[in-house]
Amino acid sequence: MKAAVIDALGHTPVCREVEEPSAPEGWVVGRVRAAAIKNIERMLAAGTHYGSGHMALPAQIGLDAVVELPDGHRVYTGATPPAGAMAERMAVNPAQVIEVPTSVDDAVAAALPNAAISAWFALEYAGQIQTGQSVLVLGATGVTGGLAVQLATQQFGADHVVAVGRDEARLEQLRTRGADNVIRIDNEATGLADAVRALHAEHPFDLVLDYLWGSPAEQTLRALANDDLAATFHRTRFVQIGETAGPTLTLPASVMRSAGIELVGQGGGSVPREAFGRVMTEILPALFDMLSAGTLTLETRTMPLDQVESAWTQATASGERMVIIP
Ligand SMILES: NC(=O)c1ccc[n+]([C@@H]2O[C@H](COP(=O)([O-])OP(=O)(O)OC[C@H]3O[C@@H](n4cnc5c(N)ncnc54)[C@H](OP(=O)(O)O)[C@@H]3O)[C@@H](O)[C@H]2O)c1
Repeated sequence: MKAAVIDALGHTPVCREVEEPSAPEGWVVGRVRAAAIKNIERMLAAGTHYGSGHMALPAQIGLDAVVELPDGHRVYTGATPPAGAMAERMAVNPAQVIEVPTSVDDAVAAALPNAAISAWFALEYAGQIQTGQSVLVLGATGVTGGLAVQLATQQFGADHVVAVGRDEARLEQLRTRGADNVIRIDNEATGLADAVRALHAEHPFDLVLDYLWGSPAEQTLRALANDDLAATFHRTRFVQIGETAGPTLTLPASVMRSAGIELVGQGGGSVPREAFGRVMTEILPALFDMLSAGTLTLETRTMPLDQVESAWTQATASGERMVIIP
């Protein structure tokens, strides 16, 4: 069968013939209908993810997919390395699947889980969001940030949500999906600190979800700081999730002492085990229900598996996820 494969870290995946998957006892082999290209796969393949060192090479790419089982059921499931989800077929553990509602198409069902589960975890676990809170999303124009904006209001009852990003059209779209305010930034995030400071004075931020790190995160942290020993305490949980603007920043010690900032992270190694136990039984069903009801929206673009090399490098619109259709 065909699959997307890399021979070395840093290579772009290519489509080539690999061995058919074999199903362990109790598993079945299903036909892959759609597998999304996400940042985590890009970073793993590039060798820039903290998990890249554990990849056995050559590696089949793809962490999850929508698969048609031999009995005709259409399900979402995760791939078990070294098997990859960007392949014509994959082995599936029937105990680890969730049925995709008929109203949700293959590409959206494949693109939603990684981003939406991460956004949910960031809000509920790392962010400990409470109804009525004020939330700032840095990198809201991306797929995951856009879902975080929607979930903050629709699922967790945030009262005030501010979306930060570069793409103007996407920011305007986010106003119709739950953002009360938007801040448009350029590559240097010029003006972000002033805008955050002003909005923080009006509706103090309880939670910041950060998909950018680098300069935008640095400016935001500095803007949340106080310059007055008598400043009123306000707790702001700053959740570090992504790094599309840069992998490092400079954080003056005084920022952490002058304000009630709590700096936490959200990722594979920083989510409580209990949270993963809720994914298939509670969180994904709720997310698919929201998609079916139209209260959650996600844009996708599709390309065939034999064009994975070009799909990998092709730019997508802000907030749009590339999905491979084998
Ligand atoms: N830890 C986790 O569990 C987890 C889960 C999902 C994603 N992530 C991470 O979160 C980040 C975003 O993921 P995503 O799925 O939303 O990605 P995405 O859909 O590819 O979006 C990336 C966004 O980054 C923005 N961007 C890139 N460079 C920027 C810069 N210099 N300044 C400001 N904005 C910049 C772009 O904004 P414009 O469109 O405005 O240009 C783009 O929309 C990635 O680093 C990803 O690895 C982490």
